[in-house]
Amino acid sequence: MDEGFIDVKGVEKVFEVRKKAGFLKRERRQVRAVDSISFRVARGEMVGYIGPNGAGKSTTIKMLTGILTPSGGRLRVAGIDPSRERTRLAHRIGVVFGQRTTLWWDLPLIDSYKLMHRMYRIPDGRYRENLDRLVELLDLSELLDVPVRQLSLGQRMRGDIAAALLHDPEVLYLDEPTIGLDVISKAKVREFLRELNAERGTTVLLTTHDLQDIEQLCSRVMVIDHGRMMYDGPLAGLHEAGESERTLVVDLERELPPIEAPAPARVVRVEGPRQWLAFPASESAAPLVARIAAEYPLVDLSVREPDIEAVIAKMYVEQTEKTANAGNAGNAGKAVS
Ligand SMILES: Nc1ncnc2c1ncn2[C@@H]1O[C@H](COP(=O)(O)OP(=O)(O)O)[C@@H](O)[C@H]1O
Ligand SMILES: [Mg+2]
Repeated sequence: MDEGFIDVKGVEKVFEVRKKAGFLKRERRQVRAVDSISFRVARGEMVGYIGPNGAGKSTTIKMLTGILTPSGGRLRVAGIDPSRERTRLAHRIGVVFGQRTTLWWDLPLIDSYKLMHRMYRIPDGRYRENLDRLVELLDLSELLDVPVRQLSLGQRMRGDIAAALLHDPEVLYLDEPTIGLDVISKAKVREFLRELNAERGTTVLLTTHDLQDIEQLCSRVMVIDHGRMMYDGPLAGLHEAGESERTLVVDLERELPPIEAPAPARVVRVEGPRQWLAFPASESAAPLVARIAAEYPLVDLSVREPDIEAVIAKMYVEQTEKTANAGNAGNAGKAVS
């Protein structure tokens, strides 16, 4: 069968948002959260799904679970259309949302598991076996009698992951499973996921804005930004794509023939007095700028980062500076003086 285990073709999701526009008046606006994305994930793969805040990651996961219905395109998980057969699909998938729990807040952890045993009609033997294994691997034995509200974030996350796996799902979606976790909890969660994938062959789709999650777990990564798929391939290739070439945008005093730049830098576009030069992203722009400034009537110039690099840079900024100003997010160009 040629179909991927997860098969997404031209899927989009448009939200209608009503915004207040004065007294009693409301304006309708459309948000294209996911914009015609396509990908396939084979059984047993562990794929990272990354992008900055608001990129469309959670919306994608929600469509893959059937919580949200796509506005367009075609989507199948294990041959099932999620939004049409959500319940049937629920027996085959596990989901963990980092920002909210599926556990019962006031009950001891073990009681949530007992409830899931019933809800998913897990055969007794299998339930016991899975519970024992998960309790051991996720280090939960001391926590089973503790009410969920008293667990730390890292403990709760491990509890949530166990809950998602009690019914032996073939695929596990994790939406930001390490968000807000301390270093030790992160390491535990990552180690567990690695084992789960290697030993049980569980297909894992891991959504995160933490690049370290991906570096430590996934050989394949998909990058989404503004609802669009920017990259799908090996992690190493992501770095290459990000480091490929930058563009120097030069404004001259007047229209001139293409600038004669030292190779490998070269003119890739001319529009009136403006010229675009591509050069290796690993090199400094300074010598190129100096040369052009010495030989041409220069008015202004700026350096543009490659798209992927801008996306990744944005993620690193979000990760390191939680106070990063969202208003700068769309600014891909960088001025040089
Ligand atoms: N229920 C909703 N109604 C309106 N807009 C939404 C809704 N859910 C998400 N969005 C918008 O869709 C975009 C993508 O959101 P999301 O998928 O949550 O991004 P991510 O998980 O990558 O941070 C954002 O602009 C967000 O504001
Ligand atoms: Mg999200």
